[in-house]
Amino acid sequence: MERDNKQRIVILGASGFIGNAIYKELCSYFKTFGSYCTNTKPYKENQQFFQYNHEQDDIYEILKTLKPNVVISALRGNFNSQILAHQHISEYIRLHNCRFIFLSSANVFDAYSKLPSYEKDKTLSESIYGRLKIKIENTIMLLPKNKWTILRLPMVLGTNSPRIEEIKSNLKEKKTIEVFPNLIMNVTTDDKLSQQIHYIINREKTGIFHLGSTDLVHHDDFIKDLVTSMGDYKPVYKQVYTTNDERYLAVLPKHNILPKNLQIESPDVVEISIL
Ligand SMILES: NC(=O)c1ccc[n+]([C@@H]2O[C@H](COP(=O)([O-])OP(=O)(O)OC[C@H]3O[C@@H](n4cnc5c(N)ncnc54)[C@H](OP(=O)(O)O)[C@@H]3O)[C@@H](O)[C@H]2O)c1
Repeated sequence: MERDNKQRIVILGASGFIGNAIYKELCSYFKTFGSYCTNTKPYKENQQFFQYNHEQDDIYEILKTLKPNVVISALRGNFNSQILAHQHISEYIRLHNCRFIFLSSANVFDAYSKLPSYEKDKTLSESIYGRLKIKIENTIMLLPKNKWTILRLPMVLGTNSPRIEEIKSNLKEKKTIEVFPNLIMNVTTDDKLSQQIHYIINREKTGIFHLGSTDLVHHDDFIKDLVTSMGDYKPVYKQVYTTNDERYLAVLPKHNILPKNLQIESPDVVEISIL
């Protein structure tokens, strides 16, 4: 694909696990900028990266300087200042030739447990994290429809994902690995998500996307498959039951379905994550 110098992309949280995967996917095709906050060392000398702390800095001014056509938010941090930052980003998007891609979470549905969730389902959360995501989603949805894309993600894994690193270190140190036998979920990888975002940018897709694997898995089966594929360990599992009944934390698409080559199944997630 040809380099499109007209598109300018700002990834907020580009020093993080997912933001960095997105940066690597996009930087050869677009004029791509990324923010870091505390993880200064690898990025300080990199001209494409800038320091941004949503507890201190004015994102509106930063965006006015960088003039992006697309802003991708892959941020974490203090909840109140995240909310304010996303309000300010939304104000910038409203007034400029710019679109917003926001990484949300399956947790926006974590108060519902009986079924998987689809794009048009009403959000409801009983966790503070899920409620934060709902609040930001609602701010973004006030923008004109052609200006926003909300990506609801399940658990994201990948070769260097913090979750895989944690499992590996628990195995080496012979620590217990928590599994949730009642939890039915879907999963994805940082690489597949980055390819999906690349496609969404190229095709100017807007609206809500549910980007989980096409199949659903029990948390304990999935983690045990991962561990078995990692080698000849003798894992110690701690079974955690948060409810008596099975509960779903799964985001499936009904309306915004991506092409087959951009979909993923949970066995692929296992295979890719242990590479
Ligand atoms: N990982 C998952 O399984 C998953 C699932 C669903 C949704 N999501 C969502 O995806 C997004 C990215 O998640 P991730 O797992 O990649 O997180 P992460 O690895 O912790 O990265 C978070 C990013 O936010 C930056 N950040 C933290 N505090 C900040 C602050 N006060 N000001 C400015 N930047 C700040 C970090 O910068 P420094 O590292 O430089 O400090 C980093 O670049 C999040 O919005 C998360 O809710 C993730």
